[in-house]
Amino acid sequence: MNKRIAFLGLGAMGAPMARRVLAAGHPLTVWNRSPDRAAPLGAAGALVADTPADAVRDAHVVVTMLADPAAVRDVVAAFAPVLRPGTHVVDTSTIGPYALRDIADLLPEGVTLIDAPVMGSVDRAAAGELTLLVGGDADPVLPVLDLFGAVTRTGPMGSAAALKIVLINAVVTGVAVIAEAMALADAMGLPDTTVRAAMVNSPLAGIAGRAFAQGVHYPIRLAAKDVALAVATTAMPLALAAHERLTAFSRDSERDLGHLVELVRESASLKTASHSAP
Ligand SMILES: NC(=O)c1ccc[n+]([C@@H]2O[C@H](COP(=O)([O-])OP(=O)(O)OC[C@H]3O[C@@H](n4cnc5c(N)ncnc54)[C@H](OP(=O)(O)O)[C@@H]3O)[C@@H](O)[C@H]2O)c1
Repeated sequence: MNKRIAFLGLGAMGAPMARRVLAAGHPLTVWNRSPDRAAPLGAAGALVADTPADAVRDAHVVVTMLADPAAVRDVVAAFAPVLRPGTHVVDTSTIGPYALRDIADLLPEGVTLIDAPVMGSVDRAAAGELTLLVGGDADPVLPVLDLFGAVTRTGPMGSAAALKIVLINAVVTGVAVIAEAMALADAMGLPDTTVRAAMVNSPLAGIAGRAFAQGVHYPIRLAAKDVALAVATTAMPLALAAHERLTAFSRDSERDLGHLVELVRESASLKTASHSAP
């Protein structure tokens, strides 16, 4: 447990994951663009670096958990020049395979890149119960990945980044479908509890469970980013429609994805009311 880990990106997901590294006894250096988010990790025993390059200088394993492709590209470009051969860079963000390839091109010879995007939200990040989809030569970093949750190997580097987009696009689009199903139930005068109970006993159970989940925080803005990564790849009219719904409620973009259900129901009920007005 004497290998120094660098963890960059201490947002809703990154902060609890970095805490698990510290709790396991690894020497840890952290960096976050907004320093106030790094301070609690510093108080808990991590070194807080001023720059991405300072964070990774002495690290054996570098973990990034950042918002989107642009953020990962900027941060990796800032630290890549100081990486030593033999360092392993693990990106756990959701950025898709094309951005991952660009990032691989930024890394010096002898540095390996592993894509390890995660399924599960902040609750499972804190408990070390995420599902990690892992691509590339991950054997040397498995003890670190194990701290975050269960590892599913997907194949070569980039395969996990791709699979994550496949899964999360279907989940987000599915939540949009549940939102419209609830709006339809409202319009037909069905009680909320009856509809939810029926969903749990139907093939919709899993996705309805996500739509109504509590204690999770996957903001609508990140869900829109993930669906955008999918629709940029191939023709996906259903996902495009879901993306339109996600971006229509910009004032609520920090709310969890599940809040989409209430937003869609509210907007549908306004239309139902105006149709039935005399
Ligand atoms: N939330 C979830 O339930 C969930 C679940 C699975 C996967 N994910 C994925 O995990 C990643 C992180 O999600 P999150 O919920 O932790 O997001 P978040 O709370 O918004 O945190 C985003 C992190 O990225 C940093 N960042 C954003 N733009 C940057 C830039 N241009 N340069 C440097 N740093 C930048 C932020 O720094 P500041 O603090 O300075 O803003 C913050 O540390 C995303 O790719 C997301 O899609 C999220």
